[in-house]
Amino acid sequence: MAPTQSRSCCRFSIRNALRHPIAILKVVILTTAVLFFTYLTRSYSASLAFKSPSPYAQYDNFTSTLSDSAVSVPPLSPAKVKTSGWEETVIPSGAHVHGFTVLDNIYLRDGTFYVVTDDPSFPPRNRLLSRPVEMKGGGGGEDPTPTDEQLQFISPDQATSILGDSLTRIEGFSVIVYDVPQFVGHFYHWFGEIILGAWRVYSHILLSSPSSPLPFPRRFILPFISDDKWRDKAGMDGPLMRAAFPDVPIEQAGYWDDLRKLGKTVVFSRVMLVNRSAAHKHPFGGVWYKMIAGAMNVTAPHDFWAPIRASLLRNVLAPGLIPDSTQDPPSLPLVTYISRQGTGRRLLAADHNALVDALKELEVEGLCEVQIAVLERMTLAEQIELVARSLIIVGVHGNGLTHQLWMPPQPRSTMIEIFFPNGYTFDYEIVARNMGHRHYAVWNDTFLTYPEGTTHKGVKYPEGFHGDKIPVYPPTVVSIIRERLS
Ligand SMILES: *[C@@H]1O[C@H](CO)[C@@H](O)[C@H](O)[C@H]1NC(C)=O
Ligand SMILES: *[C@@H]1O[C@H](CO)[C@@H](O)[C@H](O)[C@H]1NC(C)=O
Ligand SMILES: *[C@@H]1O[C@H](CO)[C@@H](O)[C@H](O)[C@H]1NC(C)=O
Ligand SMILES: *[C@@H]1O[C@H](CO)[C@@H](O)[C@H](O)[C@H]1NC(C)=O
Repeated sequence: MAPTQSRSCCRFSIRNALRHPIAILKVVILTTAVLFFTYLTRSYSASLAFKSPSPYAQYDNFTSTLSDSAVSVPPLSPAKVKTSGWEETVIPSGAHVHGFTVLDNIYLRDGTFYVVTDDPSFPPRNRLLSRPVEMKGGGGGEDPTPTDEQLQFISPDQATSILGDSLTRIEGFSVIVYDVPQFVGHFYHWFGEIILGAWRVYSHILLSSPSSPLPFPRRFILPFISDDKWRDKAGMDGPLMRAAFPDVPIEQAGYWDDLRKLGKTVVFSRVMLVNRSAAHKHPFGGVWYKMIAGAMNVTAPHDFWAPIRASLLRNVLAPGLIPDSTQDPPSLPLVTYISRQGTGRRLLAADHNALVDALKELEVEGLCEVQIAVLERMTLAEQIELVARSLIIVGVHGNGLTHQLWMPPQPRSTMIEIFFPNGYTFDYEIVARNMGHRHYAVWNDTFLTYPEGTTHKGVKYPEGFHGDKIPVYPPTVVSIIRERLS
């Protein structure tokens, strides 16, 4: 009943309104204003977004209101328009590395991307994306090499004949995670690689315009993911995305299909295009064996992650609990040991107990506060609150260490990762480097830490790496903590 009523009510009022000349005048004035503002936004959206006084990237509500009212508009921005009237696709400030690319004016038609350019130095297709196939360990999977179905390069002169002459423009910054479900639904892979890598490469733009905050994304698009398969088992990714990006929708395959069925060319004003297998093609992919390896070769401001951390903490924590770098740090630093004893990969029970005792002694001594965290028994907000207060996090290699993303960097902030002796993998070392936390790898009674810029050689998964008999000699961990706190 209700929907019918409201529909007939709307029809009635529109018809009614149109009968009155003054109402018609109002509609005309409004439409003209909207079109005029739309024109202004198109020409000046970049400068508008960049003039925000905030030190951090912000979701610019002024721009968003204007462009939400933009229905379908011809391309403008005179500086970049070629004779054929098509804006060329460009990579702003060279913000690109294998698998992470910022593209302005990237076109999409029938599910295929079009890069409109005459520039022979544009990165090749296989550095931008790949085919949507699952990766198989040890080869033997389908060939991921991208084809004309995924992306084509065309010249501005060809654009009209290939893309038609009408465009649907999608304004603002879109993050397109061009990836199959295989890896995305995992706390570390999602936040520690996709979002972190994307934000690092995007932040490269700040180096050429340091005073201009970067706008937050207006939408995330996952063209090959449906049924929420991007969510992780532990249930972290969903709520944390809403906390970091509260008003940003996460669109999936249905959205992509809608654009395809529209049968028109869509132009994205700015995208960050992310693809895992393209990312692994970077030469550093063979050094660190991580999707984000190549992104580490892209320079970014020191605390480029700060806007995301700040947004997330602001939306999860009570005001009094939000760390504030302008205030004196609390007198007692917090050391948090993330216990994995309730999971598969864990310490020898005796070593875990001895480690807890040794840490508690540091607390008795008055050197620090110590918290033993069993994440699976804590609410999300409790977990975030704890890491946001921590200065040092200790834990066995595992997903929980991704939480260092929410630990504010300080000169003494530290990640102590316990591995099975001789085992090594770069996951949390790379996150620590991005955050500005010092990373230590502990192998029972030895440890390893590398200064910025140099790194451990080689990934090793010895037998026992994922087992439940990982040894640790507590005095080794304690000596690192003492040194960091002295
Ligand atoms: C829009 O931004 C202004 C200034 O930053 C702010 O005062 C206002 O509350 C915002 N409005 C909305 C709807 O977010
Ligand atoms: C992107 O990378 C993944 C690796 O996760 C690869 O399997 C896939 O084919 C690539 N392309 C798409 C469209 O998913
Ligand atoms: C990128 O890699 C090259 C080659 O190893 C190196 O010379 C350069 O310093 C690296 N740059 C950054 C910012 O890591
Ligand atoms: C760990 O280190 C301690 C102290 O050196 C040593 O006694 C112990 O045997 C070591 N454990 C393993 C499994 O190597």
